Amino acid sequence: MEKEKNAVVIYTRYERFWHWSQALLIFILAFSGFVIHGTFNVIDFETAVTIHTYSAILLLLLWLFTTFWNFTTDNWKQFVPRIQGLPAVLRYYAWDMLFGKPHPHHKTMQRKQNALQGLAYLTFMVVIGPALWISGIIYLTYDLWNVMEGSQSLFQAVTFFHTAAAFMMMAFAFIHIYMTTTGKTPFHYIKTMITGVENIELTQAEKAYFSEQHPKILRNKE
Ligand code: HEM
Repeated sequence: MEKEKNAVVIYTRYERFWHWSQALLIFILAFSGFVIHGTFNVIDFETAVTIHTYSAILLLLLWLFTTFWNFTTDNWKQFVPRIQGLPAVLRYYAWDMLFGKPHPHHKTMQRKQNALQGLAYLTFMVVIGPALWISGIIYLTYDLWNVMEGSQSLFQAVTFFHTAAAFMMMAFAFIHIYMTTTGKTPFHYIKTMITGVENIELTQAEKAYFSEQHPKILRNKE
């Protein structure tokens, strides 16, 4: 099938809003969370708890709505894991990238992410995120169960689990930010997540469909 590169809006307005608001909330939660934990005390404990609680509620609402959005728009299909292409991507990041070789994954509308990226985001959504929100909600409802027998052991387990998940989230964030700098230029991927526009290959059929049904998606110039 004949394909050619086109500047296309690959990330919708909602996707970009969701991405950046999630990033901001996670940053605020990490900052206030580690103040609560006692890692640093730039702000007082009470303020940190208030900030953490309100941002956690906002993030829970955002995750809830985005899960709904992912399923109603079929976007969830982007995250279905696959092995195809994974060895080439691993080889690229471990070795080929250092010698200026081209990226083995070519973005398409069906697969915006490479196989490794897909696995990383899936881990974020099904392991790290749930570990934080499940332990976070149990933590949040402490006043409801603290009279229960064995509540102190449960409390210790919950704080341990929540902090461990927070470290996993931080590891994810650092690796994720590093990966964003490995595009054509250090800011290429960041710019794409702001504007939504990327140069990708479209089949003639896709191009005809977008021109007819969604002309705003096609951008002649980036
Ligand atoms: C999304 C749902 C989340 C909920 C419902 C939640 C809830 C909570 C609650 C209730 C506390 C205890 C506050 C207090 O002492 O009264 C807490 C502590 C904490 N949170 Fe979260 N949180 C969430 C997400 C996050 C995220 C994304 C991070 C970091 C990336 C994080 C890191 C921490 C840390 C490090 C602590 C201190 C743990 C300790 O030492 O006791 N939380 N969280």
